[in-house]
Amino acid sequence: MNKIENLKILYSEEQIQSRITEIAKELNLFYQGEEVVAICVLKGAVMFAAELVKHLEMPLKMEFIRLSSYGSSTSTSGKVNAVDIKLPDLNGKNVLIIEDIVDTGLTAKFLIEFMGVNFNLKSLKFCSLLDKKLTRKVDIEPDYYGFEVGDQFVVGFGLDYDGYYRNLKYIAYKSTQY
Ligand code: IMP
Repeated sequence: MNKIENLKILYSEEQIQSRITEIAKELNLFYQGEEVVAICVLKGAVMFAAELVKHLEMPLKMEFIRLSSYGSSTSTSGKVNAVDIKLPDLNGKNVLIIEDIVDTGLTAKFLIEFMGVNFNLKSLKFCSLLDKKLTRKVDIEPDYYGFEVGDQFVVGFGLDYDGYYRNLKYIAYKSTQY
């Protein structure tokens, strides 16, 4: 079957939940009750965004956009496709982009530039569950991230391989070569 097997747990459900609570505390402190528009980058960030926003205490709206840079492979195509990026007027808003993982950084760069070109935001913050710092191709860092991961393909808690594994409660990587 065309699936990653031999998964090794990297971060447990408990570790993820506890880290999400910590990030939410930082965000609650930063925004000081100001209204926020949280933009969930589908599909990978769906679990993270859903958990994170439950702990945010300010007035909040959610938007969903869909990008893709991977096909059925474990390395990025290097080109970000805006599959669906319809957004309301965000001028003057505090925008929080919620991503699953920053790998090469191309998606983050694309989104940050897209926001800058299209809107005059009050503030823009980028929050990612995972940060794969070793594989960065552009000079970009998330403002907030949950955990750093090495140069391994990880799945679970929203992250997929060929569409599978998004439903795992934990984050895992494959122990042998794929
Ligand atoms: P970037 O544009 O290279 O930073 O990649 C961002 C996107 O690639 C993420 O939103 C993920 O969808 C996908 N991605 C990067 N690394 C992984 C991984 O290890 N597992 C699953 N998806 C990944």
